[in-house]
Amino acid sequence: RTRVLTGITTTGTPHLGNYAGALRPAIEASQREDVDAFFFLADYHALIKCDDPTRVARSRLEIAATWLAAGLDYDRVTFYRQSDIPEIPELSWILTCMTPKGLMNRAHAYKASVDQNVAKNTEPDDGITMGLYSYPILMAADILMFNANIVPVGKDQVQHLEMARDIAQRFNHHYGHGREYFVLPDVQVDEDVATLPGLDGRKMSKSYGNTIPLFEGGRKELKAAIARIQTDSKLPGEPKETEGSHLFSLYKAFATTEQTQAFKQALEEGLAWGQAKEELFTLLDGLLSPMRERYESLMAKPQEIEDILQVGASKARQYAAPFIKEIREAVGLRNTA
Ligand code: TYM
Repeated sequence: RTRVLTGITTTGTPHLGNYAGALRPAIEASQREDVDAFFFLADYHALIKCDDPTRVARSRLEIAATWLAAGLDYDRVTFYRQSDIPEIPELSWILTCMTPKGLMNRAHAYKASVDQNVAKNTEPDDGITMGLYSYPILMAADILMFNANIVPVGKDQVQHLEMARDIAQRFNHHYGHGREYFVLPDVQVDEDVATLPGLDGRKMSKSYGNTIPLFEGGRKELKAAIARIQTDSKLPGEPKETEGSHLFSLYKAFATTEQTQAFKQALEEGLAWGQAKEELFTLLDGLLSPMRERYESLMAKPQEIEDILQVGASKARQYAAPFIKEIREAVGLRNTA
C-alpha cells in the first residue's frame, strides 16, 4: 500500500494556493483504494512564524474545518494535529543531531530572511530564530515518522522534501546496518498549479498578503478579492494575452480543459477584464459554495473538530509510538530488550 502524507501550517487563513497545491491533490489521493493517508495541522511549524497564541488557535480551527469541508473522510484518513504527537519532536531532535549545519544553511526560507536583512543593512541573522533555521528538520520528522511514500505539496516545498530524503538516507546509512529504517519520500507536485499566483502575480502566499481566501468572508470577500486581481491595461474589445496573465492562470487551475479553452478564446477575442473577473467568480463560487456551507457549520462546532482530532491523534500514535522505540534503540537510547 502507498502512504500519502501532507500538512498545512496553522498560520493565517487557508487560501486557494493551499487548496490547489496541497488539499485537492491530497484528498484525491486519499480516495484511492490502495492508499493510506496521513493529513495533519502543522501547529509546531506555526510557532516559527507567529507568536500570537490567539491567531495560532484560530488558524488551527480554520484549517481543520477546511480539510473536513474539502472532503477529507476522517474515518479513512488519519487526521491529526502535529502537537498531539510527542514522538514527532522527539524524532526531530534525534534527526537534528545528525543533520549537517551546512544543509540547513542552504534552505530557501532561511536564506531569503538573511537576504532581506542584508538588503536592509542589518545583521544577517537579525530576527532569525533557531525554529526558522531548523524548520526543514521538523518537517523531515513529520514525514519520516510515518514512513510516507508520497508527499503532495506546492513547488515551494520541494527543497524541503529533498532535505528529508537526504536526512533519511544519512540515518539509514549510519544506524541501519542493512535495515532501511526510513522510507525515502517522493514529492508529488501538480505541475499545472505548482505555484498558484496571487492577486499581484507573485506566488499566492500568506506572507505577501496577496491571497484569495477559500471561505473566510464568504462570497462577498471572494468577489472583492477577485476584483483586486491585477491585469494589464488593455481595453474591452482589445485582444488579451493569456500567457503571463495570472487571472487566466487562476481560472485554468480550477476549470476543465474545455472551460479553459473557451475562456482563452474569449480573452483573445477581446473579453473585457471586468467580464473575465465575473467568469472567474462564477467558476470559483460554484466550486467553493458547497464546501463553504460545510465549513461554516463546522466552525460553529469546535468541539466536534476537537473530537475528530483526538481520534486521529490516537490512530497516529499507534504507529508512531512503537516506531520511535525502534529509533531510540537504533541510536543507543533506552535499550528495552
Ligand atoms: P504551508 O502551510 O505554507 O502551505 C501548505 C501547502 O500549500 C501549498 N501552497 C501552494 N501551492 C501552490 N501555489 C501556492 N501559491 C501555494 N501556497 C502554498 C504548499 O506548497 C504546501 O503544500 N512546511 C509546510 C507544512 C508542512 C508539511 C510537513 C508539508 C509541515 N510539515 C510535512 C508536507 C509534509 C508549509 O509551511 O506549508
